[in-house]
Amino acid sequence: METLDQLVQEAEADFAAAVDGAALEQAKARYLGKSGSLTERLKALGKLAPEERREAGAAINRAKDAIERALEARRTALREAALLTQLAAEALDVTLPGRESVTGGLHPVSRTLERIEGLFRSIGFIVADGPEIETDWHNFTALNTPENHPARSMHDTFYLEGHDDVLLRTHTSPVQIRAMQDHVARHAGSEHMPELRLIAPGRVYRVDSDATHSPMFHQVEGLWVGENVSFADLKGVIADFLRKFFETEDLQVRFRPSFFPFTEPSAEIDVAFMSGALEGRWLEIAGCGMVHPNVLRFGGIDPERYTGFAFGMGPDRLTMLRYGVNDLRLFFEGDLRFLSQFR
Ligand code: DAH
Repeated sequence: METLDQLVQEAEADFAAAVDGAALEQAKARYLGKSGSLTERLKALGKLAPEERREAGAAINRAKDAIERALEARRTALREAALLTQLAAEALDVTLPGRESVTGGLHPVSRTLERIEGLFRSIGFIVADGPEIETDWHNFTALNTPENHPARSMHDTFYLEGHDDVLLRTHTSPVQIRAMQDHVARHAGSEHMPELRLIAPGRVYRVDSDATHSPMFHQVEGLWVGENVSFADLKGVIADFLRKFFETEDLQVRFRPSFFPFTEPSAEIDVAFMSGALEGRWLEIAGCGMVHPNVLRFGGIDPERYTGFAFGMGPDRLTMLRYGVNDLRLFFEGDLRFLSQFR
């Protein structure tokens, strides 16, 4: 039979060979289990004479202690090894580039609209809006546009199928009518109607598409009605706005006589930069004029007592100029390679 020392050595070798916790517990059972070899020896003690039993028992217990220590040591070693393996597997490479979190951004035209709204709010204008599906009356008739005016033709205007009096608004000017009517209703009966000062940014629609025209585009309408509102006020407001919008004093503004049914007199507003890529070129950016008495009347306002100026400008055009973009369609194609440059 093996000596106890041999048994201990055998157990140590067995434990060392166990590659994981389960194998180690199986090895343990071969020595310390119910019918393990060391347990069998303890059971055999009973057959010994009492005087031999004490010494043999002590020797077996020493062997048992040694085996248990070896077992515990191996358990610890396997646990540490498992931990190291796990740490290695889950290691972070802190030198890898970080993952970019994608942040959205405002559309360049939205940026322009916000800018315009901010500048006009700072001089006491409110921001108004109106429906994009408009009546023919608001879009044309109330704006003093005669029945046979070319702007009403099927070629320019999107009419709703089956409705010849409902259309996609071709400009933001109908908001003038709605806002004047609201304003008058709100101050009905009061001796002094307060001034009405508004801008109305929004989408408008025309049958038109090329590098500088899109069937959907934006306008910002402006309206200032009060007692003694003059063309000089219009010039001041516009020139001041443009210098602030483009953040330069280095530009010239020109009011060129023109015609619109809803203003009299009417003008086209041109701007020219005194430096940069577009130096010296006159660029048309808005239409404007003194509100026609008929339009005031349609809005419910007495043209004998009140006057007003109005303008309608193209924020898409202003955005192109501000960012140096030469094709309007880029703004509306939704290509992120283009749009993300404005984030
Ligand atoms: N509604 C005009 C257009 O779409 C622009 C315009 C011109 C608006 C003169 C105005 C104005 O308010 O006074 O072409």
